[in-house]
Amino acid sequence: MKKIIAANWKNNGSKKFIKDYFDYFLKNIDSKNEIIIFPPDLYIDQVNHYRDKDNFNLGGQNINYLRDDATLTSGNSSDMFIDNGCNYTLAGHSEVRGSDIAFIQAGKALYASNDLQVIFCVGEEADTKKNGNTQNILTKQLEDLCDKRMYPKVSPRKVIVAYEPVWAIGTGNIPKLNDISFIHKFIKTYVSENHPFLKEKDIMVLYGGSVNLKNAKDILSAPYVDGVLIGGASLEVKEFTNICNLKI
Ligand code: 13P
Repeated sequence: MKKIIAANWKNNGSKKFIKDYFDYFLKNIDSKNEIIIFPPDLYIDQVNHYRDKDNFNLGGQNINYLRDDATLTSGNSSDMFIDNGCNYTLAGHSEVRGSDIAFIQAGKALYASNDLQVIFCVGEEADTKKNGNTQNILTKQLEDLCDKRMYPKVSPRKVIVAYEPVWAIGTGNIPKLNDISFIHKFIKTYVSENHPFLKEKDIMVLYGGSVNLKNAKDILSAPYVDGVLIGGASLEVKEFTNICNLKI
């Protein structure tokens, strides 16, 4: 089954890293999965030169949480991402979302246009999980995504959510597979019951947090998992290429 395999390079890479990366990746990729690479903004244009029609998709790691017509020093507009070859953007990653999740998620949902597919990141902190509050927090994070005032221009064809438990990012710890499936099903059900346009079949949920070549096949094979969002392991080009080449 075709899955989404996404690489979030975060603030890693250099011109040489990218050249070496794609020298290997383009020779060894043999995948029917949908691959998305999120380089740092400064390197999006360089990575775009290695794309052809369908070898991989390209995304920005973050987008203005204000509307495009508001000024924001250090901001990037959705048009700039599209101009540089992007067809995806992450929104609300735990490393950038700060405390006011609702506001940031709401603003970002404005960009769920047909040109730039947003991947909304949600996930609970370790304390939240310990206190049994994961579903409450996820509901809060998903609320704005389902508010029809967020779609003034165009209704999205699909919603992609990345479930990234904050305690699993970069730690080597992952939830039990049953727990991943349970939360993914919870997200799909919540969004489909509350979204103004979309049905459950239009909602995809990716898992992120310490995914590597050893655990990727099991995670990708778990029920309700539509793909993975990979940080550290996506910087190892052989490991990432092997994950992309998995057949599920
Ligand atoms: P790691 O795969 O390094 O845990 O990072 C996950 C992540 O934050 C992807 O967005």
